[in-house]
Order: sequence, then C-alpha cells, then structure tokens
Amino acid sequence: MNIVYLNGNYVPLGQACISPLDRGFMFGDGVYEIIGIYRGKLVSSREHLLRLQQSSKAIKLPLKVSIKHWEDIFYELIKRNRAENKNKYIYLQVTRGVDKKRTHIFPKGRVRPTVFVMLGDVHPPSYDELSKGYSAITRNDIRWSYCSVKSIALLANVLASQEAEGHGATETIFIHNNYALEGSNSNLFVVKNKVLITPPKSKRLLGGITREIILKLAKQLKISCKVRNITKQELFDVDEIWVSSAVRDIMPIIKLDNKLVGKGKVGPVWEQMQQAYQEYKVQQT
Ligand code: PDD
Repeated sequence: MNIVYLNGNYVPLGQACISPLDRGFMFGDGVYEIIGIYRGKLVSSREHLLRLQQSSKAIKLPLKVSIKHWEDIFYELIKRNRAENKNKYIYLQVTRGVDKKRTHIFPKGRVRPTVFVMLGDVHPPSYDELSKGYSAITRNDIRWSYCSVKSIALLANVLASQEAEGHGATETIFIHNNYALEGSNSNLFVVKNKVLITPPKSKRLLGGITREIILKLAKQLKISCKVRNITKQELFDVDEIWVSSAVRDIMPIIKLDNKLVGKGKVGPVWEQMQQAYQEYKVQQT
C-alpha cells in the first residue's frame, strides 16, 4: 500500500483528500522539492530543504519547519512503505492552504499551508542503457522570470517535456535570448575541449542540487570547469552535453535537434563523472 503524508497524518494515497479551494489546485500557489533516496537513504536532503526554505520565502509563504522535522517525516514514510533498502524519491509539496473562496489575494488571517509528501519510484537506466545516450530538442523558453523558485506551477515545463516526448527525445533545453539555460526538468552541462561548462545560477534557471554536486565532484576529479553562459550556436559545437537532476542523475545527450553531439557517442568526461556520482551516492548511505 502506498502511504503518504498529508497535513500531519500518514494515510493511504487513495484516502489523501484536499479541498478544491486549495490554492495549489486553484493557482499553482505553492512550492515543491524532489529528493533522491538511494538504498533507503536520502541524498543531499539538507541542501534540498534549504532550497525549499528559499523557495517558500520567495513566494512569501511562511514555513517554520526544521530540517529534522522534515527528515523524520521522510524516514517514517520510508519505513511505512518498506523502502529501507530501495531506490526511490521523496516528492514534497507545500501550498498556501485552503481559502474560503477563490481570490488572487493571499488568505486573510492564519491559514495553514497544505503539506503533502509521498514516495515515488525511480527507474534508473542501466549503465548499458545510459551509454547508448539520449536525444534532446531546443525550444524558446516561455517560462516566467522566477525559475530559481521551485514552484509547482509547471505548465511551461510540462508542455516542453511533452514536446520532447513527441519527438522521441528525453529532454527539451530552454533557450532564452539566444542562451541555453537548462532542461524542462534538469540542469545543463556541456564539455568542450575537456572543459566542463554550465550556465551560472540566475532567476532564469533552477539552482539544481545535482548541479552543485557535479561541480564539487569536478573539482575533486580535477576536471577544469567554467560557470558561464552558453549560446545556442555553441551547443551545436560541443563534444558532450549532459542533463542532470535528482531523479535523472546525469544523462548524456548525443543528439540535439536531430544533429549529432560531438561524435554522437557518450564522452569520456561523462564516463568519469557518472562513475564519481554513483560513488557519491554510495557514500551517502
Ligand atoms: N526537477 N531545473 C529544473 C527546471 C528542474 O525541474 C530540476 C529538477 C532541475 C534539477 O534540480 P535538482 O538537481 O535539484 O533535482 C533543474 C525535478 C526533479 C522535477 O521536477 O521532476
């Protein structure tokens, strides 16, 4: 049975009910996080929870909950769902709660945020699958200017993901003012002449936790690394492209808009980073 957490209670998913007047349902007025679980242990949960605090602050949603409180809920869910040795992910969502009527203005007085947490399944591709590589497409970024906030309002990302799916691709890379920013649900890395490059954090993209881990590992591995803007043209002239997230890990992209990336094979820097990332996850357990 899938047990989830809703506003202080652990209940089967089918019994978890919220009001249609919940502001998450009405307006997409809320924030979320997705945290990897590797062999029953949370991967970088502290970093994800700090980002949750930043997201909730940015949307003026007061959230005074300690990291320990969240982690207790996560481990309780892992226990209740018998996932102590499994690879899963935590999905957690906090909305501005239920109002008495539909109005854009924040609810008056004290409204309790709606807090929902569940476990999700991950289906990590095998090394053999990964090393065949994936394809991606590019599209103009139609999102808003607070992409650094992990908002549950994801319609532009949903449409972009669906478009990738329709083209048999795994991800859509957003282009804004001729710069490649990130994927519809992942961050972007490229490798050119053995230098790893990723766009800088800004309001136009989400500061991914996996991105931070990759940057840290690159330092340890002595891979030279640059955090700088990447133009759309440059994307078609690099040796490797990767996309990263807590659920995708690091996926090598070997075809972009139907053109081969580099030699059209996964690259040596990806091989090195992929191995280091797997070791990093083992260390977390
Ligand atoms: N998405 N950029 C966007 C737009 C994302 O939605 C995500 C993650 C990332 C990578 O962030 P992280 O490394 O912290 O997972 C970057 C999650 C997994 C999702 O919405 O499914």
